[in-house]
Amino acid sequence: MRMIDDLVGGVERWRALDGIGRPVAAAVSRAVSPRPVRNLLSGTALGHPAHPVLTDLPIGAWSMAAVLDVVGGRAAEPAADLLVATGVAAAVPTAATGLNDWSDTKGAARRVGQVHAAANTIGLALYSASYAYRRRGRRTTGKALGLAGLGAVLAGGFLGGHLSYALGVNVNRTAWRRGPRDWTDVLDEAGLAPGGHRLVPAGDVSVLLVRDDGAITALDNVCSHMGGPLQEGTIADGCVTCPWHGSTFRLEDGSIVRGPASVPQPAYEARVQDGRIQVRARP
Ligand code: FES
Repeated sequence: MRMIDDLVGGVERWRALDGIGRPVAAAVSRAVSPRPVRNLLSGTALGHPAHPVLTDLPIGAWSMAAVLDVVGGRAAEPAADLLVATGVAAAVPTAATGLNDWSDTKGAARRVGQVHAAANTIGLALYSASYAYRRRGRRTTGKALGLAGLGAVLAGGFLGGHLSYALGVNVNRTAWRRGPRDWTDVLDEAGLAPGGHRLVPAGDVSVLLVRDDGAITALDNVCSHMGGPLQEGTIADGCVTCPWHGSTFRLEDGSIVRGPASVPQPAYEARVQDGRIQVRARP
């Protein structure tokens, strides 16, 4: 276990990767910038990131192919080949969603993501070769390549888990932010000019208040995607756009207009009582 920690720690600190990672991430960001592409690859309509959902397909298909290769006998050969091909086909959209997510990372997470992607690319290449050898009737070589591919993919999967569970990539940064249960005074009404916005504390959360068209809206200030400060973003057309990666949320209810966020922004109730703006969590 200590050896694995040392290896992963070494990847996190491997700054030589930045020379490749920085320009590639910038190119991927440009490629995925159109809103429909961004929303599709980010899983915006699903309510959580698409990449972890898709990874089940190649890993599941390839691991079942390995079981059939090892214990299935001749009768299982067609099914094993089909599973290998299915995994290769499913790996393409899986990689696309992963690249999209990775392009928003920085520092240690970006470096680990590069090695994660490299391991999975090696796995995909080995499985593609495995399928080609199977088609030519060279089954022993095909099986060996497949097992090697499974090893690469499992190593990549381990790093993917490290990205999410140890480095917190693409976890909902507002999961534990509920807002005050009772109406809570946050600001004098005169402190929020028409068309203006203010950042205020409310209980143990920070809230972005916006007065737009006479209405006061209140969103949690911490972007659900990766924790960007919404008060530094752009407010227009009834929405706020995060300054970090461009997620756009409707002010009235926090729903997502544009990813990469896949979890809506917490929206709080707001009212004016005796000249004071108050907010509370939505029931
Ligand atoms: S932190 Fe990524 S869009 Fe807000």
